[in-house]
Amino acid sequence: MSVVPFASRSDAGLPALADTLIAENFGEQNGVLTIGGIAATDLAAAYGSPLYVYDGDVIVRRYRALTAALNGFASVYYSIKANPHPAVARLLVDEGAGLEIASGAELLLAEAAGARAADILFAGPGKGELELTLAIAHGIGEIHLESFEEIEMVAALAAAQGRVAKVAIRINPSAAAQGGAMRMGGKPAAFGFDEEMIDDVLAAIAAKPSLHLSGVHLFAGTQILDADVLVFQWAYGLRLAAEVGRKTVRPVERIDLGGGLGIPYHDGDKTLDLTAVAAGARRLDEERRADPWLAGAHILIEPGRYLTGPAGVYLSRVLAVKASRGQRFVVGDGGMHHHLAASGNLGQVIKRDYPIVAATRLSDAERAPATLVGPLCTPLDTLGRQTKLPDMAAGDLVAILQSGAYGLSASPVGFLSHPMPAEVLVRNGRAALIRKAGDFSAPLVNLLS
Ligand SMILES: Cc1ncc(COP(=O)(O)O)c(C=O)c1O
Repeated sequence: MSVVPFASRSDAGLPALADTLIAENFGEQNGVLTIGGIAATDLAAAYGSPLYVYDGDVIVRRYRALTAALNGFASVYYSIKANPHPAVARLLVDEGAGLEIASGAELLLAEAAGARAADILFAGPGKGELELTLAIAHGIGEIHLESFEEIEMVAALAAAQGRVAKVAIRINPSAAAQGGAMRMGGKPAAFGFDEEMIDDVLAAIAAKPSLHLSGVHLFAGTQILDADVLVFQWAYGLRLAAEVGRKTVRPVERIDLGGGLGIPYHDGDKTLDLTAVAAGARRLDEERRADPWLAGAHILIEPGRYLTGPAGVYLSRVLAVKASRGQRFVVGDGGMHHHLAASGNLGQVIKRDYPIVAATRLSDAERAPATLVGPLCTPLDTLGRQTKLPDMAAGDLVAILQSGAYGLSASPVGFLSHPMPAEVLVRNGRAALIRKAGDFSAPLVNLLS
């Protein structure tokens, strides 16, 4: 199949970010969006719609670019909450990534992706007894402790299994370390222990022979687009880790500096500058090596969105185009039940459109604002508010870009009982079905049992 390189359409009105993203990650063939070289129309014909498509080559490229920028300063543990499909996570495991999980089910998904338990870390503010029992029995690499109750529970469960569990303390840093769109540290938070509590936490852990304190975990925020903010957080994490080393009079073994590396979603968003990240990592690496408490430590980061977000496209087929009081509505079969984040309802303060394009009409130059909605009977099911789309008709495909992270797994798939969409992974120009679409009766299965 010959793929015509995507010619920039921004002069013709395609939103600048969508234009750049298609040029970087996808392509065009006779006006149709291609993903991994395959036309969106062929993918939708083969697998139905709505549909998630991930380009595995993009994921691998991003992992390699990131690890190259880190240049040995830190290893990468993929946070599988961003996209927990084992076929997606396996691409990264095969590249050498560890995995970060946040539930017992994610542990099973991580193992299904081929990760060794020793290369898996478990974080989350409220871990349950069953999932902790499983994690300890499997010999998980590290459990991030986030409450005094959890210290007690992990210690008791490990002792009952005759094991010593490797643990880290998750520290909620002070306000100085803030940055990113969604903040998880520096203010009152359910995540981890406040920095001011470290002494009490260390004492509680030291009193438990079935716990081995191997490290420190800091995760302060997500969607960070500014390399300086990111490097500042990493520097702060290293300082905190050194303090833990001094207090325990033991060099720190492992430091998890968190994820949070952002990707652009809106026109005007900047792209995280990997060259600046690389320079910061180099500087921190020198400082770390010179600090006796940190010199032998294994540093890691746990990004999710950055690795898989740009590789994914959510395709929705147009069912109707209608006008209401002067406004154009494009009604598609894809909606917030599969893509809550694109509807602006996943914690966003301001609802702004994801990059959205008419996948079957990329070369149409005339575009006008439209409201892109899904099939659900609620005004919340709006995926695009001021979306510049050409003339559209039933049967056209709309593509929501930057959808490879916090897409299906972050969505209320039971809401209105529509079927699950299929998921397809493209690698080296070949598409593989990695999740079958559900049929509309699926929610009724087992209802009476
Ligand atoms: C503990 C932890 N690690 C990693 C991540 C991944 O964040 P991101 O996808 O922004 O890199 C999250 C996201 O919420 C998290 O809570």
